[in-house]
Formats: sequence, C-alpha cells, structure tokens
Amino acid sequence: MSAIAEIDAPTIAINPFSESFSDDPYPFHEQLRDAGPVVWLSKYGIYGMARYAEVQAALNDWQTFMSGAGAGIQDLRKGNAWRPRSIVLEVDPPLHDETRAVLARVLSGPAIKKLRPAFEAEAERLVEDLVSRGTFDAVDDLAMVYPLKVMGDAVGVPLQDRECLLPFSNMLFNSFGPENDIFRQSITESGAVVKQLFAQCERAALSPDGFGAQIYQAADEGRISADKAPSLVRSVLSAGFDTTVAGLGNAIYAFAVNPDQWQLVREDPAVGRTAFDEIIRWESPVQTFFRTTPRAVAFEGVHLEADRKVLLFLAAANRDPRHWDNPDRLDLRRKTIGHVAFGSGIHVCIGMMVARLEAELLFAAFAKRVKAFELVGAPRRRRNNTLRTFASLPVRVVC
Ligand code: HEM
Repeated sequence: MSAIAEIDAPTIAINPFSESFSDDPYPFHEQLRDAGPVVWLSKYGIYGMARYAEVQAALNDWQTFMSGAGAGIQDLRKGNAWRPRSIVLEVDPPLHDETRAVLARVLSGPAIKKLRPAFEAEAERLVEDLVSRGTFDAVDDLAMVYPLKVMGDAVGVPLQDRECLLPFSNMLFNSFGPENDIFRQSITESGAVVKQLFAQCERAALSPDGFGAQIYQAADEGRISADKAPSLVRSVLSAGFDTTVAGLGNAIYAFAVNPDQWQLVREDPAVGRTAFDEIIRWESPVQTFFRTTPRAVAFEGVHLEADRKVLLFLAAANRDPRHWDNPDRLDLRRKTIGHVAFGSGIHVCIGMMVARLEAELLFAAFAKRVKAFELVGAPRRRRNNTLRTFASLPVRVVC
C-alpha cells in the first residue's frame, strides 16, 4: 500500500506555493479549513493544517510537531540539506532552550525600552520627510528604510552593508518553500551578497554595544559555545528584517483601504499602540511555517505518518471563522489575543516587541500629521514562498 493511501486526511490538490495562491490566498484558506482539521497536500506529499484550533495546538506541542527537521519543506536531518539550520528556529529542546535564553536576555523588555528614544527620533524624522513629499512608495521609502536603519543600528551592523539584507532575507523566506521559480530567482539575486551578510555577523564588524556584540558576550560568558554566536546574530537579522518590512507595508495598505480604521488610530493613541497586532492577524506577514512528525501520531482523529512535513497555515488560522467573529474585517478595536501571526509555544517570535515598537512609533508619527492614506497606483505584491508582502505600494498622504 502506498504511503498516501494509508492516511485518512482528505487529499487536496491545491498548491500553496503557486502564483494564484500567493495572489489571493484567502479563498484557498477557506477550502483548506473546510476540508478538515488536517489535509494531505498531494502536490508535495505533506500534511497541512489551516484551522485555528489545530494550528494553535500543533505550535504548542513541539514533541509531536518538531522544528528540528527545519521550518521549511526540506527535511534538514537528511544528508542533502543545502543550507545549515537556524540554531534557534530549527532546533528542539534542549539546544533550543540554550540559544533562546541568550536571545531572550538580549531582546528583553528593559533592553527594548532602551531602544525607544532612538527608534522614536528616527520615526519622526522619516515620517516628517515622507509627509513633506506627499507622495511616496510605502515599501521602498518606508517599510524597507525604517527597519534597515533602526534594526541595523540596534544589532550593530555596519551602515554601508545593510542593503545586502534585502535579497538575503527574500531568499531565506523563499527557501522554506519548494525549489520553485521564485526560490531559484532569489538564489540568483542573493548570490553576490551572502558572503557580505556572513561577514557582517562577525564580531569585528559589529558595533561594541548592539545586540550582535551582546550575543558574542554571551559566548564569552560560556552561555553558548563560541561557534554559535555568528549563527545567532544571523538568525536575528534574517528573522527580524523582512518580516517587519512585510508587516509595515501591509499596515499602510490596511490604512489606505480601511480609512475608518485609520481615523481610530488618529483619535485614540491607545488604538495606535495595539493596531499592529490586528493588522498582522488580518494580513499575516508570515503565512506559513513547517513542522515535522518525529513519529506516527493520531491527531484530531487523523492518522499522521512519521517523518512527514506538516504545513501550518498561520494566516488561515488567523482568519478562521470557527475562532474569530467576522475574521475578514480589519477591526482595530478587536481583542487579538491568541493570534498566531507571531507563532505560539516555545518558538513564539522573540523579536515581537521590537516589531511592535517600530509599528507603534511610525503610526504615532503619521497620526500627528496625516488624515488619510490614498493609493495612487496599483499596489504590486512581491511573491515569496513564506511571506505576504508588497514590492511596491504607491501612496499619497492627505494632511
Ligand atoms: C512583524 C514582524 C514579525 C513577524 C510577523 C514574525 C513572525 C514570527 C513567527 C511566526 C515566528 C515563529 C516561528 C515558528 O514557530 O517556527 C517567529 C520566530 C522568531 N522571530 Fe519573529 N517575527 C517578526 C519580527 C521579528 C523581529 C523584529 C525579530 C528580531 C529582532 C524576530 C526574531 C525571531 C526569532 C529569532 C524567531 C525564532 C524564535 C524561536 O525559534 O524560538 N522576529 N517570528
């Protein structure tokens, strides 16, 4: 009997890495959710989960749904893995506890609080400049510029080399999916910068007081081995950059197409402080991540085979009507607690306070000056195997 015939999960022919899926994932999400708690995606021979309850349960059960075989479609335990795994995102306890503890200290609440004045000054400066221009591209001129500056400074990477983060991150998030056209293209585009990115993460290249230097300090103190430090710096840079670019671009789009919601931000600073979580529930920057079954398991009445990849549709869970009222509506007054745009469980995003701070300060700077955002050209998506993001978002601000 073939492996596929043995499973009870309903078979779905949808290709979640196709152009049509990426263009408009929401009707596909509905089909996936309606098909059952677990589905078999025959195109790739993987399981999928798109309902909130199961995605949330899988994220919180690392023994059954492990990360150590990689957060992408490839099983990184196998000899032919083309890339090294992240030593925080793609490992299980006990190694995960060790590396995460280092990042948890570096990215702690008090550490993030210290960033606030510099992040705020930069948000004010950038927004003032954009408002004086009136019309700008919310991706090229805002969503990419701001994290590159503030995150780059916080980590301590040299100013002149930061641009290499753009093609590198795009490639990395493509690499979680199959080896399709966009993945191959991003490999070509990032080829020239990989060496540069690795060089940026060396101790000598980093400023003495940033997150990067603090990770090396943790190695000096014996909290991680010295060889892990550059890899952990890379993990922070690669996980923390393109995700935020996507989130900020999606935010400006959200305000442009929901002007009533932007009015709420203008009227009530408390709404501005929490708006980002509803925006990323509604339009999740990280659409999916994989887990792997280390052994056969019965889950929600479905038999899952051992050593299979499981695609968790975070974005579909975030709009599951079984969990959320009127989920397709952006509602900045909604209680978003429990959304999985930052994940959940032991791998929950460790940089979420940085991302929230960036968004909060940009929204506050715009709220002081801008009555409305208007689209002045067709937004263009940047297709990526993991992220939902824009390539271009031309907007005008009404003051
Ligand atoms: C809007 C912005 C962001 C989104 C949507 C996002 C999303 C996520 C998600 C969904 C995960 C869970 C992965 C999993 O369960 O396999 C995650 C993990 C992670 N994120 Fe973020 N992230 C964002 C910003 C950041 C920032 C700014 C940083 C760094 C400063 C960061 C660093 C990390 C790291 C290191 C992990 C791995 C944690 C672990 O495996 O224990 N992220 N992120």
